[in-house]
Amino acid sequence: MKEARKLAPSLSLMALMALGLGGLIAMVISSSASGDDTTRDAARQQRTQQLFVMCANCHGDQGQGKQDLEAPTIAGLPRWYVQSQLEKFRKGIRGAHPDDFRGLQMRPMARQIYTDEDVQDLAFYVSQLPRASRTTTIQGDKAKGATYYFGTCSTCHGDMGQGMKALNAPPLVIQNDWYLVRQLENFKEGRRGYHAKDSGGMLMKSMVSKLPDSQAIRDVVAYLGTLGD
Ligand code: HEC
Ligand code: HEC
Repeated sequence: MKEARKLAPSLSLMALMALGLGGLIAMVISSSASGDDTTRDAARQQRTQQLFVMCANCHGDQGQGKQDLEAPTIAGLPRWYVQSQLEKFRKGIRGAHPDDFRGLQMRPMARQIYTDEDVQDLAFYVSQLPRASRTTTIQGDKAKGATYYFGTCSTCHGDMGQGMKALNAPPLVIQNDWYLVRQLENFKEGRRGYHAKDSGGMLMKSMVSKLPDSQAIRDVVAYLGTLGD
């Protein structure tokens, strides 16, 4: 019995050696050429769904977000934005400040996605999830907020808060108010837009200086609640 078990691996090793390197390359080429697109797509889709299980722990099974964990809605965010943020987290460009507690939590999660292809697939998957309804938790002066919004923000984020891909500015009408307030405070206090390579974050950091205080942040976020949907 022992002999037989020993024989099996050495036989396959011999077979491999007999095939030679050329044979191996030919095998790899032919197997990738023969795998049809539908099988490959199905396998990738399954992989993306498996990866998303991890995300769902914090962002919810539909990507709707979980306020108790301060994990934002990701469902329905544009693919390009999700991809750009996952890349920033992966490279340590977002979640870089030592006091950015929540960013520091997200950063190792993005590092669990090992390949660029997985990042792209996951970003697509997330962008296709149906948008969740927003909650109202922040009170502010909407009229004042509108003045701030059209004074500064709409140039990049659009008149309806829909975002502008050409300027890398994300939509602001998908996120819940508690997350928006926290991000604006992060920018204002330098926790986001901190890394030298975070040019988008730094740009946003300079824009937020147009909101004089935390009340102005609440006002503009209250106004955003009236847009979109
Ligand atoms: C341990 C909890 C946790 C897990 C798991 C997690 N996230 Fe996050 N994620 C967060 C938190 C918290 C934030 C907010 C970070 C901040 O405040 O800057 C965040 C932020 C994000 C953002 C930025 C959203 C925006 O509007 O800028 C994206 C995109 C994102 N996560 C996607 C994912 C994906 C995809 C996965 C799975 C690979 C994942 N997250 C796994 C907690 C988590
Ligand atoms: C010059 C263009 C520009 C202007 C003006 C601008 N933003 Fe931004 N904003 C951006 C960019 C680019 C990002 C993405 C930053 C990143 O990649 O992390 C962003 C990100 C944000 C985010 C984070 C969204 C998320 O999902 O995490 C919020 C909130 C935000 N902006 C609100 C505002 C508000 C409010 C104003 C007006 C006071 C404003 N922005 C003005 C370009 C701009």
